[in-house]
Formats: sequence, C-alpha cells, structure tokens
Amino acid sequence: MCGIVGYVGEERAAPILLEGLQRLEYRGYDSAGIAVLREGQLAVVRRKGRVKGLGAARSLEGEIGVGHTRWATHGAPSERNAHPHVYGGVCIVHNGIIENAAALRAACEARGEVFSSDTDSEVIAHLIAAEKGDLLHATYSACRKLAGSYAVAVLSAAEPDTIVCARRASPLVVGCDERGLYVASDIPAVAAAGRKVYALADGEFAVLRKGSPPRFFDGALKAVGKQEIVYDAAEDIPAKGGFRHYMKKEISEVPEAVSRSLCDLSKGEFSDLCEVLCHTQYLHIVACGTAYHSGLCLQYAAQKFARIPAEAFIASEYRYSDPIVPPGTLAVAVSQSGETADTLAAAALAKERGAKVLAVTNVPCSSLERMSDFVLPTRAGREIAVAATKSFNAQLAALYSLAGALARGRERAAPPLAAAASCVREALAAAEQVRGWIPYFLGARSVFFLGRGADYFAALEGSLKLKEISYLPSEGYPAGELKHGTLALVDGRTPVVAIVTDPALADKTMNAVHEVYARGAAVFLITSVPACLPCAEVTASVLLPKCAPAYSPMLTSLPLQLLAYYVAIARGNDPDKPRNLAKSVTVE
Ligand code: AGP
Repeated sequence: MCGIVGYVGEERAAPILLEGLQRLEYRGYDSAGIAVLREGQLAVVRRKGRVKGLGAARSLEGEIGVGHTRWATHGAPSERNAHPHVYGGVCIVHNGIIENAAALRAACEARGEVFSSDTDSEVIAHLIAAEKGDLLHATYSACRKLAGSYAVAVLSAAEPDTIVCARRASPLVVGCDERGLYVASDIPAVAAAGRKVYALADGEFAVLRKGSPPRFFDGALKAVGKQEIVYDAAEDIPAKGGFRHYMKKEISEVPEAVSRSLCDLSKGEFSDLCEVLCHTQYLHIVACGTAYHSGLCLQYAAQKFARIPAEAFIASEYRYSDPIVPPGTLAVAVSQSGETADTLAAAALAKERGAKVLAVTNVPCSSLERMSDFVLPTRAGREIAVAATKSFNAQLAALYSLAGALARGRERAAPPLAAAASCVREALAAAEQVRGWIPYFLGARSVFFLGRGADYFAALEGSLKLKEISYLPSEGYPAGELKHGTLALVDGRTPVVAIVTDPALADKTMNAVHEVYARGAAVFLITSVPACLPCAEVTASVLLPKCAPAYSPMLTSLPLQLLAYYVAIARGNDPDKPRNLAKSVTVE
C-alpha cells in the first residue's frame, strides 16, 4: 500500500529517497515518484510501475525531498496520478483517503484552480497553498478542513529547508541522525544503525528543519516531547535464500515461526496480562483477512477450552456496528503488520468503550502495539510476500497459547499445544503432495473448500489464499451448509477440497464429499483421520499427523498454502506480488 519517505539534511536527497522507497516496495504499489527541492525549484519524477523506473531521478541535485509509492484508490494507476503532487509551490505526498475531496476540489476549482490529477490527495497541496502563514501553520489549517485519514509530508518552495508532516489514522515516523532528518510511513524505511526514530501519534504534526532536531506538535499545535522508539536497526528485507519466491521461503519457515511464537503466559513479562485474563468475561477479537481467520480459531479454542464467550469480528464491520462492549471485555486485535487501518480503528473503538486491548502482532513498535494495553508477539520474522503464510501459523501458536492461559485461569485445561506444534515439520513435508493436484485446478471454474468446526476456518483461509494469488474464484464453506443452496454451483469443473481432522465430525464432512462427488466434482482430501481413506470418491489426499482438532489449522493450512502457491505459479502469476493487493492495508 502507499508509502512515504522524506529527507532533509547534508546529503543529496535523491539516493536516500530511492533507497527508502525500495524498502517500502514489498507493501505493494502501482506507481512511484520523488520530488527534490533545489534553489526554490521543485524537480518531480513520477512513473507508473516499479521504483526502478525512477532511475532518472537519482541524478537530481538537492538536499531536501519527498518520495512515495502509490496504491491507487482514487484515480487509475498512472503517472498523472502518482505522487508527489505540486500546486502553487507546495509539494505533498499522502497516504490515506480524503473523504471530502470532491467537495474541497469543487471549491478550489470554483476559485479557478486547475487540478493535474484525479486523486483525492492533490487537494491537500491546493489547500496548503491557499493558506497564509508559515508551512506548519498552513498545513495545520489545511488539515483541519480534511475528513478521512492522512499521513502527509509537505515541502514548500517558500521554506526550502523544511518538511512538515501530519498524521491522522495513518502511520508516520520520523528519524534523525548526524546526516539529517527523515520521515517515513513505516519504521523499516527509516531504520538504520545509530538513527533515532520517533512515532507521530494520531493528530500530531512534526517539523523537520535542516540543522535542528525534529519538533513535534499536538493537535492544538502545542509543542510535545517524544520518546524514542526502540527498534531493531539490523532488520532489513531478507534475501530469498535460494527460493524462487518469498512465499515459498516463508512457508518453509512455518515450523520455526510456530515454535518461536508458542508462549508461556505464566512467565514474568506477561504477569499483568495474566492478571487481566483471570478477570476477563468476554473476548472481542478484531482482525482482517487471514488474521481474522486466526481470530476465528481463537474464538473456537477459547470457548471450547476456557468456556469463555468469544466472538471474532471482521474489523471493518466491527467499527461501524455500534458494538456492545460489556465490562470485563478483552479486545484481542490480531494483525501481522500492526498497521491495518480497520483493525486499529476497531481496537480503538473497543478501548473507548472500556475494553482492555491486547495486540497480537508480528511487527514490534507497530501502531497497533503502541495503542494497546498489552502485547502478545508473534515471532514469524519479517514476512514479505503479500499472501500471509508463516504469520498465520505464528498467530495460531500465540492465540492457542492465549486460549490455554484463559483455560488455566478458570481451572480448566487445554490439550497440550507443544505436541501439535511438534507435528508441523512432518505436516509440511506431507503437504508437498498437493503439487500433484495442480492439473485438476488449472481449468477450474471455481473451487470449494469444505470443513466443519476448526476445519471450516482452515477452509476459509485456504480459499482466501487461492483467490488472492491464483485469481481463481473460490469459497470456503461449512460442509453442512452446502446443500442449503450453494450445492447448485457444483459440477465437473468445481474441484472440492475437503478438510477432515476431527474424528467426531469425520462422517459428517464425508457426507458432503459424497454429495459433491455425486454432482461430478473431483474431491481432494486433507485429513488426519486415516479411517477416511481410502475412499473411491477421493481423487487425491494428504494424510497429516494427528493433533487436537482445535489446533489442526496449524497443520491443515500448510497443504492449503502450498496448493495456492503451486496453482498461482502454474497460471503464470507472481505469488509474491498479486495484482491489486498490498501487504499492509493502511486505508479503510
Ligand atoms: C492475507 O494473505 C492477506 N494478504 C490479508 O488478508 C491480510 O491478512 C489482511 O490484510 C490483514 O493484514 P494484517 O494481518 O497485517 O492486519
């Protein structure tokens, strides 16, 4: 998704901006650009496509500039709509969505101003250019007119040694070292040994002026102090390590991601959280996409083992659902990136209504971590491929650990989690058999993934994975629900993947297998119940090691991730950078 970088200091800005943009590339974008200011003149280079297309910008002279990677929301992906946008000597880069852009634009056009893009963002440059006063005050006044979300970095020909930054509901961090001052939309783009990094809080502004330390201001423009963020400067984009794609590499890292993310909550560092768990009456789990699917797995495990009422919500729905948050609610916000706008907003709403917030995230110092009362880290390591794989399994390890702690707090017991985690490597080896299934999926019209109980959540995740990187239509469905309407879609061109790990439910799910087979579907089985095999109606199967059924998505997700991966590459898609998608979804 959109990324911001900015620099002012002693060095040439262009190479620093381009390096920063490269570090943001993994987030997904469709155009890029930089602007450098020198002797009152703004030089702007923008391109549709990759950052490497900005090669010509490397030679720009000037020690102050901003850069951007754009993921189109308003206006097509094109050079014309790429940032930075310049109007009246003011240059901006913007992440977020300006919801009242149409009305603001109309007012500017009524004054005779001409727009040069179709974006919602350009209006910010127009508003700032129309304000009086210095750049900070002009930006402040302009921001007061904006509805929606923004992280913005602003240059002005009138103040050639200053970048002004502002944020609302979209992350922004500032860095400084002896070479100069930096701004970026996330920590990896500014991280460097010896560099101090500070995060802007919602509604804050920052002024980066050459030769001075950064200054920060609250929503009333009162100067505020800032704590430095402690981060891992060594963390950089990992190499592919001999793998063709990050996605395959990351799937191969699942066993380590799981074992590192198992967590003993009775240990000292979690004592405050444990205290809260003992008094927790309800769980509200908020998340998006894959993280929502791991949230469903927590809902299931917490209810089953701790007998605590738990509900997983899609964060974008929760935030507008006027939720009832009873006293004693713990809101568990699950997010790989810790920057997902909807998850942040849902967690903030739960907090506002009295819940304590527990962040379950893979990125230390993320916005989610900073706004939460407690943190349960997932330790998957940096995930680069847009499709979440190892972070899902790591979330499950951490969330099942949480379910176990909730159970113990109620003098109940959960099945041993370590036993399930120890089967992950064996499951990964078995999962490779799905490679042989590919010919059945290449010509498919659509694909169904079926399961009951925890297998249903795995089915949802398998379907999401297939959709996002193979672009095949698919659905994850509760096995028992198919016959209530959707069975009408099943024919010889709809392969069905059935997931069966709970011996108590195996016969029930196998009934659905019989039903779809009878309608001509080729059936593929992922199971840990040997009694389901052999079955004449099953075209191919993967037999996984047994574990407690509630924990089974930690294993069944592996063949599903690999199936999506192999189908995607067989269809000629880049699984690391699927079309239209971004790694970190920082807009609503
Ligand atoms: C998963 O493969 C997706 N890329 C997506 O659904 C993702 O899980 C979702 O956007 C949430 O992201 P987060 O975990 O960083 O909050």
